[in-house]
Amino acid sequence: MMSGSIKTTRVLAFASGKGGVGKTLLSLNTAVALARQHHSVVLFDGDMGLANVHVLLGTQPRATVADVLAGRCDLAQTMFVGPEGIKIIPGGSGIRDLADLPSGEFARLLQGLQDVQPPPDYLIIDTGAGIGSHVTTLVQLADIVVVVVRDEPASLADAYGLIKVAHTEFQCQSFHIVVNDVKDAQRGQQVFTRLQDVAMRFLGLPLTLSGVVPHDDSITDAMRRRESVVTAFPESRAAAAIRRLAGELSNAALATDAKRFLLDKLGRGRGVAMP
Ligand SMILES: Nc1ncnc2c1ncn2[C@@H]1O[C@H](COP(=O)(O)OP(=O)(O)OP(=O)(O)O)[C@@H](O)[C@H]1O
Ligand SMILES: [Mg+2]
Repeated sequence: MMSGSIKTTRVLAFASGKGGVGKTLLSLNTAVALARQHHSVVLFDGDMGLANVHVLLGTQPRATVADVLAGRCDLAQTMFVGPEGIKIIPGGSGIRDLADLPSGEFARLLQGLQDVQPPPDYLIIDTGAGIGSHVTTLVQLADIVVVVVRDEPASLADAYGLIKVAHTEFQCQSFHIVVNDVKDAQRGQQVFTRLQDVAMRFLGLPLTLSGVVPHDDSITDAMRRRESVVTAFPESRAAAAIRRLAGELSNAALATDAKRFLLDKLGRGRGVAMP
């Protein structure tokens, strides 16, 4: 599928504006679903406030991004192997906003992401809530921006706020919407249409509906078992929806030209493409 010998990592960032709508759950499970489809995947917990990918899996990591930022180790040393062989870079809880980090520390973090060996097919980034600079920075790095919404006015308003900032301030053109935790696909479509109407009206921006994930108790059951729902309950409605979502996102990712990687995208001028 990849052309020639050039290997290009596609970067997918999950964001939402509002907290607690399912970003961590969906980024973990999308990562696992992609790995099941024989892709190599690194999952980066980019939630600098309340890291929780490893909590979801009941793992106590040896080191986290906090140790990387403190210069105690490099990113590769924090990585642990999760379900289906995905590699997870655990976030550190309670880290200051990335905006407050000296640029050297920030660059070291991004450099570490860029230097992950071997380069994976997909780098999936779970971001935190809000639209602070740490979130918008990670969104800027992404080839595919996935916006998770729930069927509630605050979630739609915050998703729109995130899209508006990313579009008007950072020139993001393409947003992949996932409606999570709804009764059925029809309801998901209605929620998407509401968001899309607002984005069209105020930004003239069409959105893409990439998936609808139903409310499903298998998700909470899998969480209780500290597993992904895709591996714990592969027959569940949620797992089926997440597999479809992963397929949609990987098709979309392959259809876009991968941006040049990380530091370059932020205009730090290194001009380094993935090997
Ligand atoms: N489709 C679903 N069906 C049932 N429960 C769900 C579903 N999606 C999410 N949940 C529940 O919502 C909770 C929040 O999910 P998650 O932690 O992934 O949100 P988040 O957006 O990452 O939150 P934060 O902004 O705090 O990082 C989970 O504990 C899970 O129980
Ligand atoms: Mg989260």
